[in-house]
Amino acid sequence: MPDPSTTALGQSNKFLQRAYDLTGATDAEQLYNEWASTYDGDLESEYASPQRTVEAVIKHLDDNKSNLKILDAGCGTGLVGDEFAKSSLKEKFVIDGLDLTPGMLEAARKKGVYQDLETADLTKPINRTDGSYDVVTCVGTLTKGHVGPAVFNEFVRVLRKGGLVAATVHEEIWESGGYKSVVEGLGKAGEVEVVGTEAFGILKGETRGGVMVVLRKN
Ligand SMILES: C[S@@+](CC[C@H](N)C(=O)[O-])C[C@H]1O[C@@H](n2cnc3c(N)ncnc32)[C@H](O)[C@@H]1O
Repeated sequence: MPDPSTTALGQSNKFLQRAYDLTGATDAEQLYNEWASTYDGDLESEYASPQRTVEAVIKHLDDNKSNLKILDAGCGTGLVGDEFAKSSLKEKFVIDGLDLTPGMLEAARKKGVYQDLETADLTKPINRTDGSYDVVTCVGTLTKGHVGPAVFNEFVRVLRKGGLVAATVHEEIWESGGYKSVVEGLGKAGEVEVVGTEAFGILKGETRGGVMVVLRKN
């Protein structure tokens, strides 16, 4: 999600400004329910994270399965699903989505890309069995006032061996929010190979703003 303090889009969009001031799940649900109907239109000209995340998945997938099972955690209105549907993986995947906010899920449902869409609070354990997905994506949701780093443990748990996590973390909280340390801890414990933690541009035409975390489950 673009930073409201440093981008024209951020300064002009009242929802984006509120999103960076969130303090917890109740605030988040209220904001995103209000934002759901205009979210895609507000961000579409500038927001690059969904496309860049799908590119990261495609770059690091090590098999050519024709029926990839993807979990999109914090799916919002489904921009990540839209990008998968436009990518070289189209017709080779099914995607499920989880999100805190019913209004955002309703917008995603209307697109007809996701198989299963459910409300979920990602600060709590994910209601999915171990090893049930090939890929977990999480885009724009590991950001200020949203979801903390412990969720990486859950992403790894629901992945099959060899499966990929591709998740964006806002660069300002990558270290201070504890994400770097959780990701490195998973690597040191041998649970994952840390494939990448590269800086990337949340906005089109930019190269900074977020950290693209790619993990492969051991
Ligand atoms: C900036 S949007 C990103 C949505 C989508 N992935 C995208 O890139 O457009 C952040 C999303 O996180 C969701 N969210 C915020 N807190 C959450 C929580 N505790 N559990 C699950 N989802 C949460 C919001 O409802 C919202 O849909």
